[in-house]
Amino acid sequence: MATKFLGIDHIGVAVSDLNQATKTYQDLLGFSLGGHEELPARGLQVRFVDVGESRIELISPMRPDSEISGYLTKKGEGLHHICVRVENIEAALTEMKQRGAKLIDETPKVGAHGSRVAFVHPKGSHGVLLELVEKSGTGVHHG
Ligand code: CO
Repeated sequence: MATKFLGIDHIGVAVSDLNQATKTYQDLLGFSLGGHEELPARGLQVRFVDVGESRIELISPMRPDSEISGYLTKKGEGLHHICVRVENIEAALTEMKQRGAKLIDETPKVGAHGSRVAFVHPKGSHGVLLELVEKSGTGVHHG
């Protein structure tokens, strides 16, 4: 079975100050803002920016040991990841692992809106951090 890719879900942008970044995207650049969400287990807060059928995800740390803190310290603000929607995230991870892909997460973790996400290591994808997402209600249901 081949992994079924359903589209690009969003592009993630790392920002140090979420309020400042949302002001920039809304007031200065003129985008409409989507939902705001906190992911306390990962130390993150995110805000979606609507771009027609696509979305940008502004990601910022809620605490110094958040998932994004190291990146911000090392690389500063900017493009962080591309998120690809898949029909079945476990199947996608299993197949990638079997083919020898370099995964950060071998099992899914919680993403925005109750979705499940996992990351592929940028060292294994030519410098791009890839996020896989499976959304409840958009794919087939599994036992
Ligand atoms: Co994301």
